[in-house]
This record gives sequence, structure tokens and C-alpha cells, in this order.
Amino acid sequence: MKLLLFGAPGSGKGTQAEAIRRRWRIPQVSTGDILRAEVKAGTDLGRQARTYMDRGELVPDDVMVGIIRRRLAEPDCAEGFMLDGFPRTRVQAEALDRMMAEAGLAFDAVLYLDVPREELIRRLSGRLTCPTCGRTYHPDSNPPAPGNRCPVDGTELVQRPDDTVETATNRVEVFLRDTMPVLDHYRRAGIVHDIDGTGGIEEVGGRVMKVLEGIG
Ligand code: AP5
Repeated sequence: MKLLLFGAPGSGKGTQAEAIRRRWRIPQVSTGDILRAEVKAGTDLGRQARTYMDRGELVPDDVMVGIIRRRLAEPDCAEGFMLDGFPRTRVQAEALDRMMAEAGLAFDAVLYLDVPREELIRRLSGRLTCPTCGRTYHPDSNPPAPGNRCPVDGTELVQRPDDTVETATNRVEVFLRDTMPVLDHYRRAGIVHDIDGTGGIEEVGGRVMKVLEGIG
């Protein structure tokens, strides 16, 4: 199974990816997670990426294409994978097309999680992230353990630096301007499944699983 999760910041890509990963046993390739790991490790790439991420801007295409090219060549992607957060520009989409064609691969589906703007900002500005395991929570929809702790490993949860209202608002603007047009690229290929991303996490998960069971 080769999937592409598409949606604005806060649309629930990471949340749904976890369930898909468990059910279909394919790795989640999240460019945001890869970049955050580089930032945490203090690498040159992490330092460079951080200047963009903290402002809610996109990291340059050549950097992102290199990251994905290396990641998809790793052995765990041989039987399938799910991209989360890539491609985000037309240049990235075209580079991905070339990579897939060279490897003789094609996507089975693009899942577009559709969520209104105000709800995206509400979700992002309330999101709490576990610095140990990366799981995310929200006081309204997916509350953490008492004392704002991760229910899985007990770590104190933090707010991502780019989840302030101001930066989250810019991220959504950047998505609408630079990334949303990429969806048309996949619509022309006839592989986009539009999924209503509003409602509870399990409700949205049910819609996602129904689509995947239909194709896989
Ligand atoms: P990245 O980490 O990819 O962030 P994003 O796309 O902005 O996505 P998010 O992780 O914020 O949202 P999500 O859709 O996964 O939502 P989640 O499931 O957590 O990118 C970060 C930065 O890295 C970018 O700004 C950019 O600088 C850089 N970058 C990354 N990839 C790049 C690329 N390809 N090119 C250039 N730059 C790149 O859910 C959000 C919250 O809502 C959570 O609290 C969750 O509990 C809650 N929630 C989820 N579902 C529901 C629901 N159904 N109802 C209520 N609440 C819900």
C-alpha cells in the first residue's frame, strides 16, 4: 500500500496515520517529524530548517526532496509507505512523480482530510505534544493524563513552538497558497479520496478505514 495523506496543518494527518500504521503495517513518513528530529539532534540541516519552521514557512524544496529520496530508499519502505506532509509544493510533487516512476511505483490513494480554517487553528493552538513519543493530545478532543502528562509514558507534554495562534495562522495561509494547488495534480490522476475531517477522531478514523478497505 502506498498512500499519501494530504491536508492542512491540524487536519489530523498525524493522528490518523497512527491508526493506519497499526492496521496496515506500513511506515509513516512524516517530513515534519524528520525535520524535528534533526532540530533536536542539532544538525546543520536542523539548524537551517528551524529558521523556516519557527515562522511557519516551508523549508526549501531541494532540501525536502533530498530528505524524501533518502527516506524512501530505506528497507522499511520496500513494501509500502504513507507520506505525511510531502509533497507541499508543485516542485516537490513533480520530483516525487519522477522518483515513483524511476522505481516503477504508483500511489494507491491520496486521502484528503478536509477541515475548515477556524477548526484548524483551534486544534493547532490547543495541541499538546509528547517530547518522548511524539503522540499528540488536545484538551477537548483527546485529553492528556492529569497534570498535562502523556498517558502512554508519563512525560510532561509541551506546545510545539510553531503551534502559537500567530504561527499556526501563517502555516494555514501557506498551505492554502502553496500546497492546496498540489491536490489538483493528484485529482487529474483520479486517485484523490475526499474525507470529511470534522467530527471526533474515531469518527474520522472510521471514514478513513472505509476508504482504505475499499481499495486494499
Ligand atoms: P508538519 O509537522 O508536517 O506539520 P503540519 O503539516 O503543519 O501538520 P501538523 O502535524 O501540524 O498537523 P496534523 O495534520 O498532523 O494534525 P494532528 O493529527 O497532529 O510540518 C511542520 C513544519 O515543517 C512546516 O511548517 C514546515 O516548516 C516544515 N515542513 C514539513 N514538511 C515540509 C515539506 N514537505 N516542505 C517544506 N517544509 C516542510 O492533529 C492536530 C491536533 O488536533 C491534535 O491536538 C489532535 O489531537 C487534534 N485532532 C486530530 N484529529 C481531530 C479530530 N477529528 N477532532 C478534534 N481534534 C482532532
